Amino acid sequence: MRPLIDSFGRKIDYLRLSVTDRCNLRCVYCLPADGAPFLRGPQVLGALRRGPADGFVDSRSGDILTDEEIVRVVSVAVRLGINKIRITGGEPLVRPGIVSLVGRLAQIPGLEDISISTNGTLLSKLALDLYRAGLNRINVSVDTLKPERFRTIARFGDLGEVLEGIRAALEIGFSPVKINAVVMNGINSEEIPDFVSWTRRWPVHVRFIELMPIGETGFFSPEHWLPQPEIRARCGELEPLSREDSPRGFGPAVYFRSPGALGTVGFIGALSCNFCSRCNRLRLTSRGRLLPCLASEMGEDLTPALRSRGNEDGIEEIIRRVVDMKPERHQMDSGNGKVREAFMCALGG
Ligand code: 5AD
Ligand code: SF4
Repeated sequence: MRPLIDSFGRKIDYLRLSVTDRCNLRCVYCLPADGAPFLRGPQVLGALRRGPADGFVDSRSGDILTDEEIVRVVSVAVRLGINKIRITGGEPLVRPGIVSLVGRLAQIPGLEDISISTNGTLLSKLALDLYRAGLNRINVSVDTLKPERFRTIARFGDLGEVLEGIRAALEIGFSPVKINAVVMNGINSEEIPDFVSWTRRWPVHVRFIELMPIGETGFFSPEHWLPQPEIRARCGELEPLSREDSPRGFGPAVYFRSPGALGTVGFIGALSCNFCSRCNRLRLTSRGRLLPCLASEMGEDLTPALRSRGNEDGIEEIIRRVVDMKPERHQMDSGNGKVREAFMCALGG
């Protein structure tokens, strides 16, 4: 089988899979306060109806992919050389049947690593079942350690629930547990040292993420953007870690350790430190569009191939075509970071 190599010689072995565009939170950089035009699909878990996760119905768009369709794409992708997947959303844990979907994906021969990116609000309830289903790793988004500020940034939910979820994941034995903190100047930037100090006490791996101009929330502005070198400068003393000493992962973060800490501190700076030359990934949106890059208008709809029976060759052809479309680098810094599925919740982060 010809491996997936793009036109710039990069080996593609990682797939980010958005399993829903819905979310029970409304983070300011990700979604407008009143939600996005969500896709049709299974209703969200009953327990969440008190929250905003029900969203809206967008009659222009098709349904989100079913479990069967997701398992089919991933099976073909794994035959072609994808060996790691990350399940994202929206919030993946609001998708009904997520545990059984993870279980089915975990059984695909050749898939070596399954991870999930979650906002953590449902993690204390689901972490053990996910572990048993075969999930390997968890990333939790936490942009503040202050309960009142959590409401300002996420608009719904409760920091306590998220921290409970992280504690549960650690107790169950997930390792590493990574934390994604999007740094917003003037909003949570003064908490940078608090996050670093958290890694001294807890075995968590905090990754500071530079704000990106993605989505149509109108939130991104130079005033909210703090460049990665500036974030780093506010962390205090940090020792660089070699790749071997860094927490297991396949993404663009570079890691450091605060002296004597249990966890680590990492940095992801899409604008300041373009890491596209090491890009190893494709993305599948919840409605079945395969994208070569987070910040690209290109991509191809997999659903016609998926919805015609026994068309594994058609799926393979599309995957190969999208690999060939991978641009050398994103153009987010030139103001061209506009993407077709405009909200991050549809793209999968
Ligand atoms: N800039 C930076 N990070 C973002 N995320 C979502 N939207 C943005 C943005 N505009 C992050 C989420 C989550 C990850 C999947 O992507 O906080 O941690
Ligand atoms: Fe939900 Fe994640 Fe978007 Fe926040 S960033 S609204 S948790 S999908």
